[in-house]
Amino acid sequence: MKIAIMGYGTIGSGVAAVVERNAASIAKRVGEPIEVKYVLDLREFPGDPIQEKVVHDIDVIVNDPEVAIVVETMGGVEPACTFVKKALAAGKSVTTSNKALVAKKGIELLDLAKENHVSFLFEASVGGGIPIIRPLNQCLTADEILEITGILNGTTNYMLTKMDREGVTFDEVLKEAQDKGYAEKDPTADIEGFDACRKIAILSSLAYGSQVDFEDIYTEGITKITDTDFKYARKMGTSIKLFGTSKRAGEEFYAMVAPVMINADHPLYAVNDVFNGIMVEGNMVDKLMFYGRGAGSLPTASAVVADVVEMAKNPHTTLVTSWSTKKLPLADKGTWVR
Ligand code: HSE
Repeated sequence: MKIAIMGYGTIGSGVAAVVERNAASIAKRVGEPIEVKYVLDLREFPGDPIQEKVVHDIDVIVNDPEVAIVVETMGGVEPACTFVKKALAAGKSVTTSNKALVAKKGIELLDLAKENHVSFLFEASVGGGIPIIRPLNQCLTADEILEITGILNGTTNYMLTKMDREGVTFDEVLKEAQDKGYAEKDPTADIEGFDACRKIAILSSLAYGSQVDFEDIYTEGITKITDTDFKYARKMGTSIKLFGTSKRAGEEFYAMVAPVMINADHPLYAVNDVFNGIMVEGNMVDKLMFYGRGAGSLPTASAVVADVVEMAKNPHTTLVTSWSTKKLPLADKGTWVR
């Protein structure tokens, strides 16, 4: 089974590494080996064995009948969206780690996949390596989801943890997070909360079965957090975390992304460094907690490759069935009672 990777950055290179390092166990699961045939990237990678697979034209991938699955790890809405649409229209299943793309075009791409009898999966778009999209779509279908609250951005959680524990400055720790490959290409999306906003919009849309527009979500990042805030937080026995949270209120919803002070007895208090934690409350199952590495090359690639394995075993898999175009209106903020 041949696959193509679009975008050879932190996650794309992680996908190639996972496919190579776990080749034997993946082949066993799929029933045949998975091989990366092409890597689409504008750059060259001299000295790297991947170079012989590099192409600069999406049409090479789209027009090759041997390529069954395309992995999109470019980030951003365009040109990723155009390339994904081309791949789906050509009868190739697609998996993406791109939350900006899924939040903006998720329904459209799911519909296009359906029309072309292929799959569009996006487990890695939220929570890095944490399984959360599939649990929401498969394991929690007996429940009405009441609330989702999470630490959904690894970069900012890493930064807040370091600022709290080591008193390092905002700029120093941002640079560290970028060097470790946690941050988005433009870290504004992380530190201003836009990345977490896209993620809570995706989770809310899936959980409530209706379109939740990220533009509706009040979003505040961590750029205003200072040493003084941490000093007060410590004195009060609390910690500062960037929460993405959403709650169903009848036929409406309320959601926000904002820094919050939480007590040591809060289940998300111990979620530190690049880890993400996501609490989901269903009306039958009660509260669940998902925890793991929310960013980074191999953990995120692990979720991408799990989608590849799923699509290789079942090319028509439609794990996401609950996302309707019906827009869920934003509730008045007064209805948000915690
Ligand atoms: N920049 C993102 C984060 C990557 O730090 O969480 C994973 O989505």
